[in-house]
Amino acid sequence: SATAFKAISAPRVKNEREENETDKGLRVQDKGFLNTAVIRSEITYIDGEAGAYLLIYGSLPSAAQFDVFQKEVMHHSVVHADAAPFFRSFRYDAHPMAIVTSALAYLGSYYSEANPSLQGQTLFTKGDENSLAIMDKQIYRLIGKATTLAAMAYRVRQGRDFVTPPTGLSYTGSFLYQMDHLGEDDYRPNPVLEKALDTLFLLHADHELNASATTVLQTGSSLVDPYSAIAAGCASLYGPLHGGANEAVIRMLISIGKPENVPAFIEAVKKREKVLSGFGHRVYKTSDPRSFIVRKTADEVFKITGKDELLETAMALHEAAMKDEYFIKRKLAPNVDFCGLIYRAMGFPLDFFPVLFAVPRVVGWLAHWRQMMLQDGGVKIWRPRQLYVGASKRDYVPVGERV
Ligand code: SDX
Repeated sequence: SATAFKAISAPRVKNEREENETDKGLRVQDKGFLNTAVIRSEITYIDGEAGAYLLIYGSLPSAAQFDVFQKEVMHHSVVHADAAPFFRSFRYDAHPMAIVTSALAYLGSYYSEANPSLQGQTLFTKGDENSLAIMDKQIYRLIGKATTLAAMAYRVRQGRDFVTPPTGLSYTGSFLYQMDHLGEDDYRPNPVLEKALDTLFLLHADHELNASATTVLQTGSSLVDPYSAIAAGCASLYGPLHGGANEAVIRMLISIGKPENVPAFIEAVKKREKVLSGFGHRVYKTSDPRSFIVRKTADEVFKITGKDELLETAMALHEAAMKDEYFIKRKLAPNVDFCGLIYRAMGFPLDFFPVLFAVPRVVGWLAHWRQMMLQDGGVKIWRPRQLYVGASKRDYVPVGERV
Protein backbone atom coordinates (compact mmCIF):
# COMPACT_ATOMS: atom_id res chain seq x y z
CA SER A 1 0.00 0.00 0.00
CA ALA A 2 3.03 2.25 0.37
CA THR A 3 2.96 3.25 -3.26
CA ALA A 4 -0.79 3.07 -3.68
CA PHE A 5 -2.69 6.15 -4.67
CA LYS A 6 -5.54 6.56 -2.27
CA ALA A 7 -8.08 8.87 -3.78
CA ILE A 8 -10.20 10.65 -1.23
CA SER A 9 -12.67 13.19 -2.46
CA ALA A 10 -12.80 15.90 0.13
CA PRO A 11 -15.66 18.36 -0.24
CA ARG A 12 -13.94 21.74 -0.06
CA VAL A 13 -15.14 24.08 2.65
CA LYS A 14 -16.26 26.92 0.41
CA ASN A 15 -16.96 30.49 1.31
CA GLU A 16 -18.15 33.18 -1.03
CA ARG A 17 -14.61 34.28 -1.92
CA GLU A 18 -13.46 30.75 -2.75
CA GLU A 19 -16.69 29.95 -4.58
CA ASN A 20 -15.56 31.51 -7.84
CA GLU A 21 -11.94 30.40 -7.50
CA THR A 22 -12.74 26.78 -6.62
CA ASP A 23 -15.26 26.32 -9.39
CA LYS A 24 -12.80 27.70 -11.91
CA GLY A 25 -10.15 25.44 -10.44
CA LEU A 26 -6.82 26.69 -9.22
CA ARG A 27 -5.08 29.34 -11.30
CA VAL A 28 -2.13 28.10 -13.37
CA GLN A 29 0.40 29.59 -10.96
CA ASP A 30 -1.16 27.69 -8.05
CA LYS A 31 -1.06 24.44 -10.03
CA GLY A 32 2.71 24.86 -10.15
CA PHE A 33 2.96 23.59 -6.62
CA LEU A 34 3.58 19.89 -6.82
CA ASN A 35 2.86 18.95 -3.24
CA THR A 36 -0.94 19.08 -3.32
CA ALA A 37 -2.82 17.73 -6.33
CA VAL A 38 -5.97 19.72 -5.61
CA ILE A 39 -7.96 19.49 -8.83
CA ARG A 40 -11.52 20.85 -8.73
CA SER A 41 -12.08 19.81 -5.09
CA GLU A 42 -10.78 16.28 -5.64
CA ILE A 43 -7.75 15.58 -3.43
CA THR A 44 -5.62 12.67 -4.60
CA TYR A 45 -3.69 11.39 -1.65
CA ILE A 46 -0.17 10.18 -2.40
CA ASP A 47 1.55 8.28 0.40
CA GLY A 48 4.18 10.61 1.90
CA GLU A 49 7.16 8.37 1.21
CA ALA A 50 6.20 7.82 -2.43
CA GLY A 51 5.52 11.56 -2.60
CA ALA A 52 9.09 12.20 -1.47
CA TYR A 53 10.39 10.03 -4.31
CA LEU A 54 8.13 11.88 -6.77
CA LEU A 55 9.47 15.28 -5.68
CA ILE A 56 13.12 14.27 -5.93
CA TYR A 57 13.14 12.04 -8.99
CA GLY A 58 10.17 13.49 -10.87
CA SER A 59 7.92 10.43 -11.09
CA LEU A 60 6.27 8.00 -8.71
CA PRO A 61 8.53 4.99 -8.09
CA SER A 62 8.01 1.50 -9.38
CA ALA A 63 7.64 -1.10 -6.64
CA ALA A 64 11.33 -2.01 -7.03
CA GLN A 65 12.48 1.63 -6.98
CA PHE A 66 10.32 2.36 -3.96
CA ASP A 67 11.69 -0.70 -2.14
CA VAL A 68 15.28 0.54 -2.61
CA PHE A 69 14.36 4.13 -1.70
CA GLN A 70 12.46 3.17 1.46
CA LYS A 71 15.15 0.69 2.59
CA GLU A 72 17.98 3.18 1.99
CA VAL A 73 16.20 6.05 3.76
CA MET A 74 15.32 3.93 6.78
CA HIS A 75 18.81 2.35 6.80
CA HIS A 76 20.36 5.83 6.93
CA SER A 77 18.01 7.04 9.67
CA VAL A 78 20.57 5.92 12.28
CA VAL A 79 22.79 8.72 13.59
CA HIS A 80 26.35 7.98 14.70
CA ALA A 81 26.72 7.54 18.47
CA ASP A 82 29.34 10.34 18.36
CA ALA A 83 26.46 12.79 17.89
CA ALA A 84 25.04 12.14 21.36
CA PRO A 85 27.48 14.42 23.23
CA PHE A 86 26.86 17.10 20.60
CA PHE A 87 23.14 17.01 21.38
CA ARG A 88 23.79 16.86 25.12
CA SER A 89 25.86 20.04 24.83
CA PHE A 90 22.62 22.02 24.35
CA ARG A 91 20.69 23.35 27.36
CA TYR A 92 17.51 21.38 28.03
CA ASP A 93 15.44 24.42 26.98
CA ALA A 94 17.34 25.23 23.75
CA HIS A 95 14.94 25.87 20.87
CA PRO A 96 14.70 22.58 18.93
CA MET A 97 15.03 24.40 15.60
CA ALA A 98 18.40 25.77 16.74
CA ILE A 99 19.46 22.24 17.68
CA VAL A 100 18.31 20.70 14.40
CA THR A 101 19.86 23.48 12.30
CA SER A 102 23.19 22.94 14.07
CA ALA A 103 22.89 19.16 13.84
CA LEU A 104 22.37 19.25 10.07
CA ALA A 105 25.59 21.23 9.64
CA TYR A 106 27.30 18.89 12.12
CA LEU A 107 26.34 15.92 9.93
CA GLY A 108 28.30 17.53 7.13
CA SER A 109 31.47 17.06 9.15
CA TYR A 110 31.02 13.31 8.83
CA TYR A 111 30.47 12.83 5.21
CA SER A 112 33.45 14.31 3.45
CA GLU A 113 32.58 12.49 0.21
CA ALA A 114 29.63 14.89 0.07
CA ASN A 115 31.99 17.78 -0.39
CA PRO A 116 33.49 17.24 -3.85
CA SER A 117 35.51 20.45 -3.68
CA LEU A 118 37.27 19.16 -0.56
CA GLN A 119 37.76 15.71 -1.96
CA GLY A 120 38.99 16.80 -5.36
CA GLN A 121 36.25 14.65 -6.80
CA THR A 122 34.36 15.47 -9.93
CA LEU A 123 31.05 17.10 -9.18
CA PHE A 124 27.85 15.15 -9.29
CA THR A 125 27.49 14.77 -13.03
CA LYS A 126 24.73 13.33 -15.14
CA GLY A 127 25.61 9.92 -16.58
CA ASP A 128 28.46 9.37 -14.09
CA GLU A 129 26.93 6.47 -12.16
CA ASN A 130 29.43 6.71 -9.34
CA SER A 131 28.86 10.39 -8.65
CA LEU A 132 25.09 9.98 -8.93
CA ALA A 133 25.28 7.11 -6.43
CA ILE A 134 27.19 9.40 -4.05
CA MET A 135 24.52 12.08 -4.51
CA ASP A 136 21.69 9.63 -3.86
CA LYS A 137 23.44 8.47 -0.70
CA GLN A 138 23.50 12.05 0.67
CA ILE A 139 19.81 12.37 -0.19
CA TYR A 140 18.94 9.11 1.61
CA ARG A 141 21.05 10.13 4.60
CA LEU A 142 19.49 13.57 4.96
CA ILE A 143 15.90 12.35 4.59
CA GLY A 144 16.53 9.37 6.87
CA LYS A 145 18.34 11.36 9.55
CA ALA A 146 15.96 14.34 9.51
CA THR A 147 13.47 12.51 11.74
CA THR A 148 16.19 11.11 14.00
CA LEU A 149 17.83 14.51 14.53
CA ALA A 150 14.41 15.98 15.28
CA ALA A 151 13.58 13.20 17.72
CA MET A 152 16.97 13.65 19.41
CA ALA A 153 16.28 17.38 19.80
CA TYR A 154 12.93 16.47 21.36
CA ARG A 155 14.59 14.03 23.78
CA VAL A 156 17.10 16.70 24.83
CA ARG A 157 14.11 18.73 25.98
CA GLN A 158 12.67 15.75 27.83
CA GLY A 159 16.03 14.84 29.37
CA ARG A 160 15.58 11.32 28.10
CA ASP A 161 17.93 8.84 26.37
CA PHE A 162 17.91 8.81 22.60
CA VAL A 163 16.05 6.01 20.84
CA THR A 164 17.63 4.05 18.00
CA PRO A 165 15.31 4.21 14.98
CA PRO A 166 13.16 1.07 14.98
CA THR A 167 12.79 -1.21 11.96
CA GLY A 168 9.53 -2.10 10.31
CA LEU A 169 7.72 1.18 10.86
CA SER A 170 6.82 3.86 8.33
CA TYR A 171 8.78 7.10 8.11
CA THR A 172 6.36 8.99 10.37
CA GLY A 173 5.79 5.90 12.51
CA SER A 174 9.53 5.63 13.17
CA PHE A 175 9.61 9.35 13.98
CA LEU A 176 6.77 9.13 16.50
CA TYR A 177 8.30 5.97 17.99
CA GLN A 178 11.66 7.68 18.58
CA MET A 179 9.97 10.58 20.33
CA ASP A 180 7.34 8.87 22.41
CA HIS A 181 9.03 5.55 23.22
CA LEU A 182 9.52 5.23 26.96
CA GLY A 183 10.83 1.68 27.07
CA GLU A 184 7.63 -0.29 26.43
CA ASP A 185 8.41 -3.29 24.22
CA ASP A 186 5.08 -3.18 22.45
CA TYR A 187 4.86 0.59 21.79
CA ARG A 188 3.31 1.45 18.44
CA PRO A 189 2.24 4.96 17.35
CA ASN A 190 -1.46 5.60 16.92
CA PRO A 191 -2.15 4.78 13.21
CA VAL A 192 -4.53 7.73 12.78
CA LEU A 193 -1.91 10.17 14.08
CA GLU A 194 0.80 8.43 12.03
CA LYS A 195 -1.25 8.90 8.86
CA ALA A 196 -2.22 12.47 9.77
CA LEU A 197 1.46 13.33 10.22
CA ASP A 198 2.22 11.64 6.88
CA THR A 199 -0.39 13.86 5.19
CA LEU A 200 0.98 16.99 6.86
CA PHE A 201 4.53 15.99 5.93
CA LEU A 202 3.45 15.66 2.30
CA LEU A 203 1.77 19.07 2.42
CA HIS A 204 4.93 20.66 3.80
CA ALA A 205 7.41 18.79 1.59
CA ASP A 206 7.92 21.44 -1.04
CA HIS A 207 6.59 24.77 -2.16
CA GLU A 208 8.48 26.16 -5.15
CA LEU A 209 11.10 28.85 -4.42
CA ASN A 210 10.06 29.87 -0.91
CA ALA A 211 12.61 31.68 1.27
CA SER A 212 14.22 28.53 2.66
CA ALA A 213 14.42 26.67 -0.67
CA THR A 214 16.05 29.76 -2.18
CA THR A 215 18.50 29.80 0.73
CA VAL A 216 19.43 26.18 0.07
CA LEU A 217 20.08 26.93 -3.59
CA GLN A 218 21.95 30.15 -2.87
CA THR A 219 24.16 28.29 -0.37
CA GLY A 220 24.48 25.14 -2.47
CA SER A 221 25.52 27.14 -5.51
CA SER A 222 28.95 27.61 -3.91
CA LEU A 223 29.32 23.79 -4.08
CA VAL A 224 29.36 23.40 -0.33
CA ASP A 225 28.21 19.96 0.84
CA PRO A 226 24.41 19.39 0.89
CA TYR A 227 24.33 19.10 4.70
CA SER A 228 25.57 22.68 5.06
CA ALA A 229 23.16 23.89 2.36
CA ILE A 230 20.22 22.17 4.05
CA ALA A 231 21.29 23.58 7.43
CA ALA A 232 21.18 27.07 5.89
CA GLY A 233 17.67 26.38 4.60
CA CYS A 234 16.64 25.22 8.06
CA ALA A 235 17.91 28.47 9.54
CA SER A 236 15.80 30.45 7.06
CA LEU A 237 12.70 28.37 7.73
CA TYR A 238 13.06 29.03 11.49
CA GLY A 239 11.84 32.63 11.12
CA PRO A 240 8.26 33.54 12.23
CA LEU A 241 7.42 34.93 8.79
CA HIS A 242 8.16 31.49 7.30
CA GLY A 243 8.21 28.08 8.95
CA GLY A 244 8.23 29.56 12.45
CA ALA A 245 4.69 30.81 11.78
CA ASN A 246 3.06 27.56 12.92
CA GLU A 247 4.50 28.22 16.39
CA ALA A 248 3.63 31.95 16.13
CA VAL A 249 0.00 31.12 15.28
CA ILE A 250 -0.48 29.25 18.55
CA ARG A 251 1.29 31.95 20.56
CA MET A 252 -1.04 34.46 18.88
CA LEU A 253 -4.15 32.40 19.72
CA ILE A 254 -2.97 31.97 23.33
CA SER A 255 -2.42 35.74 23.58
CA ILE A 256 -5.93 36.39 22.22
CA GLY A 257 -7.46 33.89 24.63
CA LYS A 258 -11.23 33.73 24.30
CA PRO A 259 -13.18 34.26 21.04
CA GLU A 260 -14.70 37.46 22.46
CA ASN A 261 -11.21 39.02 22.38
CA VAL A 262 -10.90 38.55 18.60
CA PRO A 263 -12.42 41.92 17.53
CA ALA A 264 -9.90 43.87 19.64
CA PHE A 265 -7.06 41.77 18.20
CA ILE A 266 -8.26 42.39 14.64
CA GLU A 267 -8.27 46.13 15.32
CA ALA A 268 -4.70 45.92 16.67
CA VAL A 269 -3.64 44.11 13.49
CA LYS A 270 -5.25 46.81 11.38
CA LYS A 271 -3.29 49.39 13.34
CA ARG A 272 -0.18 47.26 12.57
CA GLU A 273 0.40 46.72 16.27
CA LYS A 274 0.03 42.95 15.79
CA VAL A 275 0.63 40.46 12.99
CA LEU A 276 -2.01 37.94 12.08
CA SER A 277 0.17 34.85 11.93
CA GLY A 278 -1.16 32.05 9.77
CA PHE A 279 -2.64 34.51 7.32
CA GLY A 280 -1.29 35.85 4.06
CA HIS A 281 1.07 34.51 1.49
CA ARG A 282 3.42 36.01 -1.06
CA VAL A 283 1.95 33.88 -3.83
CA TYR A 284 -1.51 32.67 -2.82
CA LYS A 285 -3.89 35.59 -3.00
CA THR A 286 -7.16 33.70 -2.71
CA SER A 287 -6.56 30.72 -0.48
CA ASP A 288 -3.74 28.33 0.32
CA PRO A 289 -5.06 25.00 -1.03
CA ARG A 290 -3.13 23.22 1.70
CA SER A 291 -5.34 24.87 4.34
CA PHE A 292 -8.31 22.78 3.20
CA ILE A 293 -6.39 19.56 3.70
CA VAL A 294 -5.10 20.83 7.05
CA ARG A 295 -8.71 21.39 8.10
CA LYS A 296 -9.75 17.89 7.00
CA THR A 297 -6.76 16.36 8.77
CA ALA A 298 -7.61 18.33 11.91
CA ASP A 299 -11.11 16.83 11.95
CA GLU A 300 -9.58 13.33 11.79
CA VAL A 301 -7.05 14.03 14.55
CA PHE A 302 -9.51 15.78 16.86
CA LYS A 303 -11.67 12.61 16.79
CA ILE A 304 -8.76 10.88 18.55
CA THR A 305 -7.34 13.70 20.66
CA GLY A 306 -10.41 15.81 21.34
CA LYS A 307 -10.72 19.40 20.13
CA ASP A 308 -8.17 21.99 21.14
CA GLU A 309 -9.62 24.74 23.32
CA LEU A 310 -8.00 27.31 21.01
CA LEU A 311 -10.08 26.03 18.07
CA GLU A 312 -13.03 28.26 18.89
CA THR A 313 -10.77 31.30 18.93
CA ALA A 314 -9.12 30.21 15.68
CA MET A 315 -12.51 29.82 13.98
CA ALA A 316 -13.69 33.20 15.32
CA LEU A 317 -10.48 34.80 14.04
CA HIS A 318 -10.85 33.14 10.65
CA GLU A 319 -14.45 34.26 10.33
CA ALA A 320 -13.73 37.85 11.41
CA ALA A 321 -10.72 38.24 9.11
CA MET A 322 -12.41 36.70 6.07
CA LYS A 323 -15.26 39.23 6.36
CA ASP A 324 -13.13 42.28 7.11
CA GLU A 325 -12.42 44.72 4.27
CA TYR A 326 -8.84 45.30 5.51
CA PHE A 327 -7.95 41.66 4.90
CA ILE A 328 -10.10 41.18 1.82
CA LYS A 329 -8.50 44.21 0.18
CA ARG A 330 -5.04 42.82 0.97
CA LYS A 331 -6.06 39.33 -0.18
CA LEU A 332 -5.12 37.74 3.12
CA ALA A 333 -6.42 34.23 3.68
CA PRO A 334 -5.34 31.42 5.99
CA ASN A 335 -2.17 29.67 4.96
CA VAL A 336 -0.80 26.26 5.93
CA ASP A 337 0.34 27.37 9.38
CA PHE A 338 -2.86 26.77 11.29
CA CYS A 339 -1.64 23.16 11.32
CA GLY A 340 -0.13 24.13 14.68
CA LEU A 341 -3.56 23.34 16.19
CA ILE A 342 -3.10 19.74 15.06
CA TYR A 343 0.43 19.48 16.40
CA ARG A 344 -0.75 20.91 19.72
CA ALA A 345 -3.61 18.39 19.86
CA MET A 346 -1.08 15.61 19.11
CA GLY A 347 0.94 16.75 22.13
CA PHE A 348 4.07 18.22 20.54
CA PRO A 349 5.72 21.06 22.51
CA LEU A 350 4.97 24.47 20.97
CA ASP A 351 8.54 25.30 19.96
CA PHE A 352 8.81 21.92 18.22
CA PHE A 353 6.29 22.93 15.55
CA PRO A 354 8.82 24.54 13.15
CA VAL A 355 10.84 21.30 13.37
CA LEU A 356 7.73 19.50 12.10
CA PHE A 357 7.88 21.85 9.12
CA ALA A 358 11.63 21.40 8.58
CA VAL A 359 11.65 17.57 8.61
CA PRO A 360 9.42 17.12 5.53
CA ARG A 361 10.82 20.25 3.85
CA VAL A 362 14.24 18.54 3.71
CA VAL A 363 12.73 16.55 0.81
CA GLY A 364 11.74 19.65 -1.17
CA TRP A 365 15.06 21.35 -0.44
CA LEU A 366 16.91 18.27 -1.69
CA ALA A 367 14.74 18.13 -4.82
CA HIS A 368 15.73 21.70 -5.68
CA TRP A 369 19.38 21.08 -4.74
CA ARG A 370 19.61 17.91 -6.87
CA GLN A 371 18.03 19.69 -9.82
CA MET A 372 20.59 22.50 -9.52
CA MET A 373 23.53 20.10 -9.22
CA LEU A 374 22.44 18.26 -12.37
CA GLN A 375 21.44 21.26 -14.43
CA ASP A 376 22.88 21.53 -17.91
CA GLY A 377 26.07 23.54 -18.01
CA GLY A 378 26.90 22.73 -14.40
CA VAL A 379 26.36 24.82 -11.25
CA LYS A 380 26.73 28.61 -11.44
CA ILE A 381 27.18 30.49 -8.18
CA TRP A 382 24.20 32.67 -7.25
CA ARG A 383 25.51 36.20 -7.02
CA PRO A 384 22.78 38.89 -7.15
CA ARG A 385 23.82 42.52 -7.88
CA GLN A 386 22.80 45.68 -6.04
CA LEU A 387 22.21 49.17 -7.44
CA TYR A 388 24.02 51.63 -5.16
CA VAL A 389 21.69 54.55 -4.28
CA GLY A 390 23.64 55.90 -1.29
CA ALA A 391 25.51 59.20 -0.91
CA SER A 392 27.82 60.24 -3.76
CA LYS A 393 31.32 61.85 -3.15
CA ARG A 394 31.89 62.97 0.52
CA ASP A 395 34.91 64.59 2.18
CA TYR A 396 36.72 62.54 4.81
CA VAL A 397 36.06 63.84 8.37
CA PRO A 398 38.57 62.78 11.03
CA VAL A 399 36.95 60.82 13.84
CA GLY A 400 37.55 63.57 16.39
CA GLU A 401 35.46 66.00 14.30
CA ARG A 402 32.54 63.66 13.66
CA VAL A 403 29.31 64.31 15.59
C1 SDX B 1 5.06 29.99 4.73
O1 SDX B 1 6.72 31.20 0.22
C2 SDX B 1 6.15 30.12 0.63
O2 SDX B 1 5.74 29.29 -0.19
C3 SDX B 1 6.13 29.93 2.12
C4 SDX B 1 5.36 28.73 2.59
C5 SDX B 1 6.04 27.46 2.17
O3 SDX B 1 5.37 26.41 2.10
O4 SDX B 1 7.29 27.48 2.06
O5 SDX B 1 4.03 28.73 2.07
C6 SDX B 1 5.29 28.67 4.10
O6 SDX B 1 6.01 30.63 5.07
C7 SDX B 1 3.64 30.49 4.86
C8 SDX B 1 3.57 31.94 5.43
C9 SDX B 1 3.74 31.82 6.94
N1 SDX B 1 3.88 33.15 7.54
C10 SDX B 1 2.89 33.67 8.28
O7 SDX B 1 1.79 33.17 8.47
C11 SDX B 1 3.27 35.00 8.93
C12 SDX B 1 2.15 36.01 8.68
N2 SDX B 1 2.10 36.34 7.27
C13 SDX B 1 2.76 37.55 6.85
O8 SDX B 1 3.95 37.83 7.55
C14 SDX B 1 2.84 37.68 5.34
O9 SDX B 1 1.60 37.42 4.86
C15 SDX B 1 3.86 36.86 4.57
C16 SDX B 1 5.23 36.99 5.13
C17 SDX B 1 3.45 35.44 4.54
C18 SDX B 1 3.83 37.39 3.14
O10 SDX B 1 4.35 38.70 3.21
P1 SDX B 1 4.24 39.65 1.99
O11 SDX B 1 4.27 38.90 0.70
O12 SDX B 1 5.22 40.77 2.19
O13 SDX B 1 2.77 40.20 2.17
P2 SDX B 1 2.00 41.02 1.11
O14 SDX B 1 2.94 41.77 0.23
O15 SDX B 1 1.01 40.09 0.47
O16 SDX B 1 1.22 42.06 2.04
C19 SDX B 1 0.20 42.84 1.45
C20 SDX B 1 -0.36 43.68 2.58
C21 SDX B 1 0.67 44.51 3.30
O17 SDX B 1 -0.04 45.63 3.80
P3 SDX B 1 0.18 47.09 3.10
O18 SDX B 1 1.64 47.44 3.39
O19 SDX B 1 -0.08 46.90 1.61
O20 SDX B 1 -0.80 48.01 3.77
O21 SDX B 1 -0.94 42.81 3.58
C22 SDX B 1 -0.29 43.06 4.82
C23 SDX B 1 1.05 43.66 4.50
O22 SDX B 1 1.49 44.45 5.61
N3 SDX B 1 -0.16 41.75 5.46
C24 SDX B 1 -0.61 41.44 6.67
C25 SDX B 1 -0.33 40.09 6.85
N4 SDX B 1 0.28 39.59 5.77
C26 SDX B 1 0.39 40.64 4.91
N5 SDX B 1 -1.24 42.21 7.60
C27 SDX B 1 -1.58 41.57 8.76
N6 SDX B 1 -1.34 40.24 8.99
C28 SDX B 1 -0.73 39.49 8.07
N7 SDX B 1 -0.52 38.18 8.32
